[in-house]
Amino acid sequence: MDLIKLTIDGREVEVSSGTTVLNAAEQVGIHIPRFCYDKELSSCGACRICVVEIEGMRNLVASCVTEAAPGMVVKTETPAVVEARKAVLELLLADHPHDCMTCDKLGDCRLADYCYRYGVKSSPFEGARHNYPLDDSNPFIVRDMNKCILCGLCVRACNEVVGKDNLHFAYRGFDRKATTCGDVPYVESDCTFCGTCVAFCPTGALMEGSMLGTARRWELEKVRTTCPFCGTGCTFDLRVHDGRVVGVTTSEDAVVNGRALCIKGRFGWDFIYNEKRLTTPLIKKNGEFVPATWDEALDLVATRLAEIRDKYGPDAFAALSSARCTNEENYLMQKFTRAVMGTNNVDHCART
Ligand code: SF4
Ligand code: SF4
Ligand code: SF4
Ligand code: FES
Repeated sequence: MDLIKLTIDGREVEVSSGTTVLNAAEQVGIHIPRFCYDKELSSCGACRICVVEIEGMRNLVASCVTEAAPGMVVKTETPAVVEARKAVLELLLADHPHDCMTCDKLGDCRLADYCYRYGVKSSPFEGARHNYPLDDSNPFIVRDMNKCILCGLCVRACNEVVGKDNLHFAYRGFDRKATTCGDVPYVESDCTFCGTCVAFCPTGALMEGSMLGTARRWELEKVRTTCPFCGTGCTFDLRVHDGRVVGVTTSEDAVVNGRALCIKGRFGWDFIYNEKRLTTPLIKKNGEFVPATWDEALDLVATRLAEIRDKYGPDAFAALSSARCTNEENYLMQKFTRAVMGTNNVDHCART
């Protein structure tokens, strides 16, 4: 792989050819602001918050779509760059509710973070503002399009990460909107409620419904865990407030799934508080389920299985396992079937 050398903010950087200026800067710890760029998605160079100055170029350039070149001299934080970024932020605030005081996303919102970084408090631009109704048509994802900055990350995440293609840009000019086909509420669209769009959204436009009104983002403890629903082994963070789980968020360092999950992993966690959840084994006695200890339950199952094997022979028993179990569970199932029950009658739902 060809290596090239360039200078960023006075530091010499060596990167492989084809690396963008934004990523080259990242490699030496210089964080260039970004809204529409995400390393897991294709780049569109639309928002211009990532502009930088490059010696010999007349205009500021978008660093997320500009390839580093040998000998390039890049400056990421000059007065012209700062002025341009402030202008981008002011334009965004011209049609954005100044709602940070009560917005659940504060603390995890790139718009608020960059406004803070560049001291942008309000917009000098006056004019029409949108007043979209809140889409809380489902219990999982709450959409507030008034807080959308049209970065398009949700559109590309749904298309490129999930492969669902449920989101697109609709309308033109001031009315441009990142939305579902036909601009219908999520619940009427083809959405599978995987929540991946929420994980990529840099503002409070897309939020996990369960977390609204619980606490500020920085007050929610993160507990890294593995999804209990299937054997794929997706990793996520349980968000906990006052000892109670209030939601799930994902992050790019999850090896198996990155920020993607399915609806069960992201929104199905509330079963842990379901009153109907079984907390102890039940044994049927005289037609009624009666609570039992684990020892009683396991003894009963072992005795009955041994009776069947001894009376009707090992082949009277068969085990069907599942691709949704872990490898270890599947291993144990076949081991038990062969070594304890004495039969090779073991099969798996993924075989056919
Ligand atoms: S989305 Fe961000 S900038 Fe907008 S109100 Fe919420 S915290 Fe503030
Ligand atoms: S929840 Fe999943 S399927 Fe629905 S719009 Fe978002 S990314 Fe697409
Ligand atoms: S909803 Fe969020 S991710 Fe989608 S375009 Fe708007 S701000 Fe970007
Ligand atoms: S992050 Fe580079 S143009 Fe949007």
